[in-house]
Amino acid sequence: MPSAAQDVQRKMESLREKIRHHERLYYVLDRPAISDAEFDRLMRQLKQLEAEHPDLVTPDSPSQRVGGKPREGFVKVPHSSPMLSLDNAYNEQELRDWERRVRELAGHSDIEYVCELKLDGLSMALRYARDEHGKSKIVLGITRGDGSVGEDVTPNVKTIRSVPLSIAAATLKKAGLPQEFEVRGEVVMPLKAFERMNEERERQGLAKFANPRNAGAGAIRVLDSNITAERRLDFYSYFLLVEGRTFLDRQAAALEALSTTGFKVNPNWRLAKNIEEVWRFISSWEQKRDSLGYEIDGVVIKVNDTRLWRELGFTGKAPRWAIAYKYAARSGLTQIEDIQVQVGRTGKLTPVAHLRPVPIGGTTVSRATLHNLDEIERLGARIGDWVTVERGGDVIPKVVSVVEDKDHPRGTKRFHMPERCPECGGHVVRVEGEADHRCVNANCPAKLRESILHFASRSVMNIEGLGDALVNQLCNRGLVKNVADIYRLTKPQLMDLERMGDKSAQNVLDEIEASKALPLERVIYGLGIRFVGERTAQFLAEHFGSMDDLIEAATLKDEAASIAKLEEVEEVGPRIAQSIREFFEEPRNRKLVEDLRKAGLTFKGRKKERGTKLAGQTFVLTGTLANYSREQAKKLIEEAGGRVSGSVSKKTGYVVAGADSGSKLDKARELAVKVIGEKELTDLLGN
Ligand code: IVH
Repeated sequence: MPSAAQDVQRKMESLREKIRHHERLYYVLDRPAISDAEFDRLMRQLKQLEAEHPDLVTPDSPSQRVGGKPREGFVKVPHSSPMLSLDNAYNEQELRDWERRVRELAGHSDIEYVCELKLDGLSMALRYARDEHGKSKIVLGITRGDGSVGEDVTPNVKTIRSVPLSIAAATLKKAGLPQEFEVRGEVVMPLKAFERMNEERERQGLAKFANPRNAGAGAIRVLDSNITAERRLDFYSYFLLVEGRTFLDRQAAALEALSTTGFKVNPNWRLAKNIEEVWRFISSWEQKRDSLGYEIDGVVIKVNDTRLWRELGFTGKAPRWAIAYKYAARSGLTQIEDIQVQVGRTGKLTPVAHLRPVPIGGTTVSRATLHNLDEIERLGARIGDWVTVERGGDVIPKVVSVVEDKDHPRGTKRFHMPERCPECGGHVVRVEGEADHRCVNANCPAKLRESILHFASRSVMNIEGLGDALVNQLCNRGLVKNVADIYRLTKPQLMDLERMGDKSAQNVLDEIEASKALPLERVIYGLGIRFVGERTAQFLAEHFGSMDDLIEAATLKDEAASIAKLEEVEEVGPRIAQSIREFFEEPRNRKLVEDLRKAGLTFKGRKKERGTKLAGQTFVLTGTLANYSREQAKKLIEEAGGRVSGSVSKKTGYVVAGADSGSKLDKARELAVKVIGEKELTDLLGN
């Protein structure tokens, strides 16, 4: 063999090995080590080479199969018909080429297409069968697995609220469906649920998931369906099969039938009369994708007439009657030109990578967060390194990995955390046991600026117009020394600032005035109490019902009693309680709150009424309960005034043990905490 050919072969084999390795990490172990975009790039490289050298394609090449092998521990179930994958188009030309082939094969040009969003989740097949009462009930939920055999995850999918558990015979009849059928679609984790879950994991010191897709995959492949339920997954359906075949003769009709039957269908689908309309759909969603509450990675285009599907057939593992148009990767490769430090409202120093500008998903990215020194060390990132940067949803771009084979080229420089705050020269300290470095100067101008920006931001007091430029001027001129000063600003003061006319000054004043009507939880959130985020502020407002009651609880003479009162609030533990107390004990903060009251902000809310039956009692749930999901049990206990905690301590009142209880039960015995069963819990709840 000539050596050039040998080179190609070696290169292909090495790519295959790499891909196999990452496939295993991703599909089998749910522990991906590289971004999806990077993985796609490897696969494309391989496919490209294989296309150029078809004689060198091996049957075991990762390009020759659909997905990963199902993992041990679940029962394997064959699919009624293969769950296929789709070919991808990465640009307009590839899309048009596909469409031309469709027209050629169909022998005419009058073809309609259904455009659907390509949800970035896991595909799933749900089977329904008639039960003894004449209804159709879900009998199986199967993952895609390797495309021909999947894993039975029925108990887990049943926890997804958008999956109907049963459907009345009359409903099926109305939609024209038989009682035995199969629905295929995508399980996704909404962004809100994803963020919440990662916050929770951070609190517990667990590793965070890289993206909603992996988090969703993890949640579906657990043996304890309580955990799936807590992850708040969603299911969007897009295929309807009867006896393993498409049932209706239009895809649009199938989507409509699924909707009428009670399945969740993503509402953003459109019938397109021609490729121009398809292209418009694709372009418009590329702009709007950040406004969805879940991630999409492209658009799936399907021939509407399903009778044509049979005629068009398949190429390898993918149908010719559909294609996935993939949006530009949300990650890119670039070089760190510098690492600079940014000071936040709590004084936290965040290292920010200044990058050689790189286009990612429609915008140019030139900065990305590195979070903290630990993260820089974990990544092994140095100034001058080549890195992968990812941008998802509306989050700040972040450096996700250092590219290995360009690791630390000559001339790269290590980053050192400064000993002095870059904004004020104040001392920088790192508190024992914390990852963050902080500027300890209480009067650091950066803290003031950032706390004002936080207060004015959309999710807090929503004061439009009070952005970077204005806040900088207000702080520099000493017009604003704390958030209450915002409410004392006058029109002449504002008009005296750069680029401020009569009209824009009035707009800002109107916005400030309007913010006074926002509810109590926003004001609490706006105070910037450490560890009190949007959710905690909401719980505090609901629990105390007014700023005064919150302050009273936080400033009781008896510290232990005060902390205990604060810990009665949902999701408030010792650390948050301590921080709230410290905040309100500080005279300057009390003065600030009084100033806000005088300015006319909302200090009263609505108390969420709770029972008192279990007041002051802490419960820990473990194992599987027969009659409640863990979420339900938690809700009932909390509604009765009790608290549910994740771990057993001496302060735990009861451990509620269901089937297959594990280490928490051992711990309860060790600490002599009372263990009760489901029946006793029901008795305590009094239902
Ligand atoms: S159709 C043969 N429709 O994308 C038909 N798939 O790359 C394949 N996906 O495995 C499925 N949204 O997990 C279809 N509206 C949609 C989709 C969708 C997301 C996923 C699905 C599939 C993968 C193919």
